[in-house]
Amino acid sequence: MTADTSAARLTPQRIWRALLHRLPGSEHRRRQAWLWHEYRAFAQQQRKHMFMSTARFLHINRPVPGYYFEFGCHSANTIRLAFDSYRWLFDFTYVGFDSFEGLPEIGAIDRQAIWEKGKLATEEDDFIRRCLRHGIPHDRLLTVRGFYDKSLTPELAARLKPTKAAVIYVDCDLYESTVPVLAFVKDFLQPGTILVFDDWNCFLADPERGERRAFREFRAANPALQFQEFVSTDMQKSFVYTGTLS
Ligand SMILES: C[S@@+](CC[C@H](N)C(=O)[O-])C[C@H]1O[C@@H](n2cnc3c(N)ncnc32)[C@H](O)[C@@H]1O
Repeated sequence: MTADTSAARLTPQRIWRALLHRLPGSEHRRRQAWLWHEYRAFAQQQRKHMFMSTARFLHINRPVPGYYFEFGCHSANTIRLAFDSYRWLFDFTYVGFDSFEGLPEIGAIDRQAIWEKGKLATEEDDFIRRCLRHGIPHDRLLTVRGFYDKSLTPELAARLKPTKAAVIYVDCDLYESTVPVLAFVKDFLQPGTILVFDDWNCFLADPERGERRAFREFRAANPALQFQEFVSTDMQKSFVYTGTLS
């Protein structure tokens, strides 16, 4: 049996319909405008709220010095929001950890329509260029390239120590990506470190999947580490590390 490729064929009718879509005032144009000015703007406001809340917490409870760690960097959207929220208050060093090749192979536990191997890829150079253009100082920006199960090594931890993390932003979507991230950041926690999960409500907020599951397992494996719930938004959730049980 041969596959039906008619959906991909450019017929005059399809071209005509595409042109109509692009006319000012068309449904298509109005939808695009709504997606940009309302829907995406809403998501940005939620993230800004999260970053500004962390800034206020860290400023009022100063000093909590250290790194801003971001796991999942893609288009440099969140790292720029982080910098906008922190630049006048703190001298953080910003560390972006990413494959810079997009998502890894999607394992069975992480299957969901929106995730695909290679999706959300941004070149490392492009990411760095966006950060620098935004004003993040060159000497306070580091990138760590590679898939986390390979890149987050004890040697890397030794190079980044003894400085701890002030904020850890986990935006790598998948359970299998979050597990090595949490194992790695354990040594960088200090009282006051804020741990933010950008994708807490992915996978229909199922506690058996995604970042929720990874964090639950991490806490079960490290019962002495204490966390208090902090700010939540529509999709994100954050926690403050308060130290170990004595
Ligand atoms: C949703 S995007 C991050 C969006 C980003 N914070 C922004 O503001 O543009 C997810 C990112 O996580 C990265 N990622 C996911 N799993 C990974 C893994 N196991 N190792 C390395 N990078 C991973 C992808 O390459 C992608 O850049």
